[in-house]
Amino acid sequence: MTAIEPEPAALPIRRRHVFNPPEELGSLREQAPISPLRFPDGTNGWLITGYSVVREVLTDNRFSARHELRKLPPGQPRPEPAAPGFFVRMDAPRHTRYRKLLIGQFTQRRMIQLTPRIEAITEECLDALENRPHPVDLVQHFALPVPSLVISELLGVPYADREVFQRNTAIMVDLASGQERVATASAEISRFLADLVQRKRRCPADDLLSGLIGAGDLTDAELTSIAFLLLVAGHETTANMLSLGVFALLCHPKQLALLRADRERADGAVEELLRYLTIMQFGMLRVVREDVDLHGYRIAAGEAVMLSLPAANRDPAQFPAPDVLDINRNQPGQLSFGHGAHFCLGHQLARIELRVAYTALLRRFPELRLAVPPKEVPRREAMSIYGLHRLPVTW
Ligand code: HEM
Repeated sequence: MTAIEPEPAALPIRRRHVFNPPEELGSLREQAPISPLRFPDGTNGWLITGYSVVREVLTDNRFSARHELRKLPPGQPRPEPAAPGFFVRMDAPRHTRYRKLLIGQFTQRRMIQLTPRIEAITEECLDALENRPHPVDLVQHFALPVPSLVISELLGVPYADREVFQRNTAIMVDLASGQERVATASAEISRFLADLVQRKRRCPADDLLSGLIGAGDLTDAELTSIAFLLLVAGHETTANMLSLGVFALLCHPKQLALLRADRERADGAVEELLRYLTIMQFGMLRVVREDVDLHGYRIAAGEAVMLSLPAANRDPAQFPAPDVLDINRNQPGQLSFGHGAHFCLGHQLARIELRVAYTALLRRFPELRLAVPPKEVPRREAMSIYGLHRLPVTW
């Protein structure tokens, strides 16, 4: 503990500006890259806002991804240990085993193979969009279906089942659905994925699930859990990046014009939008396995540390003029996909999807514009993944 350590403060949640993280995060980072934090459940822990310390913690194996290691007051419900296969909440060596098997499936070859399929899926969704009366909600009719159909393609979900799969995933990621419908949709998807695993065992094809079955001795329960993880990790994230990214471009006409003028800028635009928007706003949590001294602060075993990716990606010590959206920034190292052992497995896929979807949408609708004033676009404020509930557009 340092002598001048302030009292733990609540996690800042409220955004004043739609694209900027809460300003208090910046003020905390200016004082120190680590601050004591009071979690909503009343326990104390730590918040990391500085870019270099976030990276440091994510590569330090004294910080665990196992939430069940948290020391909680008596009577408070403990997080369950990760189910077999749900490796994002595991540490080495269990995590390493799954990660190796999965990396073997997210190959360059598969990504190259998937690209024309992603283009075709995007064009099909745009055809459907174009035929709708507008204004139209871009979240429901573009941002949600594209990633859901891409994951279907990746996992090898048969065409005949895609509509049901997509309908249930849309319900699952929308809190407005209500708890009961979300639970029913999740159970439905789990059952569907368990059945899909059986079908892939009987008739393997050239898809990720079949590849995983062939590559290891994973059980049905593990395979179902991995498929579910890929779906939850890859769907809501990409969907929100898609709609929020389009919204950000429509609100920054000069950047939009630069991108429209030269499609070669698309990769740079994707990278900068990932940094500028950093949609994983909360939820990057690690638990300390043993007492640790971190930059003068003593973090006790069992305490939780929250890593603020939005604060890290707006750290002026790393990114000059961090609050400016500049698609020509051309500076690598943004942390939207995390860092270290759990670095996003789907980062290449997400980058391809975003590049293809932004470019195709802008090409198809040269007159694309908001159908309501920006202030009326409803945002996902207090959710782990930031984004938009709806994005009414017209052309
Ligand atoms: C992990 C962000 C898309 C699969 C992560 C992590 C972040 C992240 C921050 C690290 C979590 C942690 O350290 O606790 C994103 C963003 C995406 C995206 C912003 C879209 C813009 C995808 C896609 C897939 C995917 C498309 C797959 C289809 C995963 C998996 C992990 C992961 C499996 C866990 C990796 C591990 O624990 O080793 N993602 N992700 N993600 N992501 Fe993504």
